[in-house]
Amino acid sequence: MTARIIDGKLLSNAIKEEVAQRVATLKTNGLTPGLAVVLVGEDPASSVYVRNKAAACEKAGLHSEVIRLQADITETALLDVVRGLNANPRIHGILVQLPLPAHLDAAKVIETIAADKDVDGFHISNAGLLMTGQPLFRPCTPYGIMKMLESEGVALRGAEAVVVGASNIVGKPMAMLLLAAGATVTICNSKTRDLPAQTRRADVLVVATGRPEMITGDMVKPGAVVIDVGINRLPDGRLTGDVEFASASQVASAITPVPGGVGPMTIAMLLVNTLEAAERSAGLRV
Ligand code: GUN
Repeated sequence: MTARIIDGKLLSNAIKEEVAQRVATLKTNGLTPGLAVVLVGEDPASSVYVRNKAAACEKAGLHSEVIRLQADITETALLDVVRGLNANPRIHGILVQLPLPAHLDAAKVIETIAADKDVDGFHISNAGLLMTGQPLFRPCTPYGIMKMLESEGVALRGAEAVVVGASNIVGKPMAMLLLAAGATVTICNSKTRDLPAQTRRADVLVVATGRPEMITGDMVKPGAVVIDVGINRLPDGRLTGDVEFASASQVASAITPVPGGVGPMTIAMLLVNTLEAAERSAGLRV
């Protein structure tokens, strides 16, 4: 079997187009949604992500500001920047790009972002709302994956879903969204005793480990839907996911490519979250 390729670029473009139309309508009513992206230091991958986020905002008609700060900024100074954005009426969404330099407490920084501007959905208040089935902002990557599964018509009710990776950014919120959709969810981590035995049970397999090509075709159930969140740069310069595409695509029924799979969806959902934050600020949605 050769898997169908789930085209994240195509779907994200459709979502971004819809966002652009909704933004245009808001603008005629005098409201321009605004996103602030805070980048601390000059991590090359983070710099690329931040540039892409700002460019996507501009293209969809949102206002965006990138705040670049020195890697050695003090935590106090960074928290002051975040508080300034919390109070800025032109800004409806705030994103602090992770990872942060080691001397900064990421949890404290995230908790300082106003929960109603937390378009990443990382604040404990948003994590708690998601966990209790009343989401405000869904974290962008898992949210984008749910949109992909929906557009592919993947039946989640009663399905076995296995999430490999238990991060706060992807693995844990992914599990919550799949659970809310009626899947039976297993979350694997680096201590999981027999990972292949777990992944081979999955009707839907989501992999977010940051370990290049660690999931091989023999670990995939025939006919499974495989979602690869990884973006890894190999020594030869190639980009690859956490799934070995060549072997997994022979076994799966559908699979996301890297690049062009989950990555573009993350940015599209960031725009959706920012737009909805702006609508909420104006009382146009609950
Ligand atoms: N680093 C990797 N992914 C993300 C993300 O979705 N949001 C933020 N803020 N940082 C990230």
